[in-house]
Amino acid sequence: MVAKIIKTKLEEGAWIRQMFTEGQKLSAKFGADQVFDFSLGNPTLEPPLAFKNAALKILASEESGLHRYMDAHGLRDVRAYLAEKLSQEHQLPFTFHHITLCVGAGGGLNIVLKALLNPGDEVVILQPFFPEYRNYIANHGGVVREVATTRDFQIDFAALEAALCAETCAVLINSPNNPSGAVYSASDLRTLGDLLFKKSLGRQTPIYLITDEPYSKILFDEALFAPPIRYYEHTILVTSYSKALAIPGERIGYVALSPTCHDCADLVQALSWSQLALGFVNAPALMQRIIPVIGDQYVDIAPYQRNRDILWEHFQKLGVECVKPQGAFYIFPRTPIADDGVFACEALSERLVFVPGRAFGVPNHVRISFCFETEKILRSLKALANVFQCGRERKLQRADAPSL
Ligand SMILES: Cc1ncc(COP(=O)(O)O)c(C=O)c1O
Repeated sequence: MVAKIIKTKLEEGAWIRQMFTEGQKLSAKFGADQVFDFSLGNPTLEPPLAFKNAALKILASEESGLHRYMDAHGLRDVRAYLAEKLSQEHQLPFTFHHITLCVGAGGGLNIVLKALLNPGDEVVILQPFFPEYRNYIANHGGVVREVATTRDFQIDFAALEAALCAETCAVLINSPNNPSGAVYSASDLRTLGDLLFKKSLGRQTPIYLITDEPYSKILFDEALFAPPIRYYEHTILVTSYSKALAIPGERIGYVALSPTCHDCADLVQALSWSQLALGFVNAPALMQRIIPVIGDQYVDIAPYQRNRDILWEHFQKLGVECVKPQGAFYIFPRTPIADDGVFACEALSERLVFVPGRAFGVPNHVRISFCFETEKILRSLKALANVFQCGRERKLQRADAPSL
């Protein structure tokens, strides 16, 4: 029988999966191209050719032992390659010791949280957040502390400061953000670093900053990615190639401990132990070998920028309240009716599938993923206008209704 806690979780509704299932039902009924399933961040772009060529070359190699178990941290030369690259980017003395290859950012976050958390330790996450954070933190006995952000989804320092307490083990941030597309500025990250430094004074263990960065290569207009690791010494970087290379099914990423991180040597050992204890063992060997071969070649993000522009302008015309995404590939408009769950269910009648904001800790919004063909985004505009305008008309009607 399924464990009680899992039953509860399933009943509470993993919204992303539920909406995905609804999308699949609609696709089975009407055909996939007749359904605007914008529920998942599963890119339809193909990985760069260099990725496929590198994989083919490695698979064709006659060298023996390429597919065996290895050190849980991953291949030494791949770790050294990443350490060298990070050292140059951030002027920090990374060595291969600081790098652990992991099973996507999800795997990376889990080994980090396993390594850090004592039962009851709090992890602060900023709303809106990637919904799996709640599960990842609970997996390792941690307590989730959700903190609101500003109206444009930037860090609210007063709210954050009020949430930090003796139990805070770590603050987990994600910029560019899923689902809002918010990107944190260097100046805000400096302020964040200063705040964590101040709040860590006098503690035996400082508050760690975990930065989850799978979208760091997906930025629009003039937006720049400010690397949090530069602004706070006890930073743990977690990232993956899922989005930058459009290979989320291949499960490859890495954890980088800042060389200045408290208890760094012990953490290195703890990450390897966690990798084994959680059953990941090591990141996929073939994928690890591809990393240094393809270097800095990523997917062309021009289609994402186009999709972002189209949706943003459309919502502007419709008068829908929405923060302009600066990165990642999601848009997070405010819903015209307060109940985002009802709104997302109603949208199904227009064959539109999106995820209610409550899954991300911010109700009254929906997340629309736009990592799809522009042609599909364009075809969805009429349906989007129908649901957003129809919801607004109903809201107005309600406001006009005479109070009895
Ligand atoms: C913010 C964020 N963190 C982590 C992940 C997990 O990424 P991965 O597929 O690399 O495990 C995702 C996936 O969508 C994400 O959006």
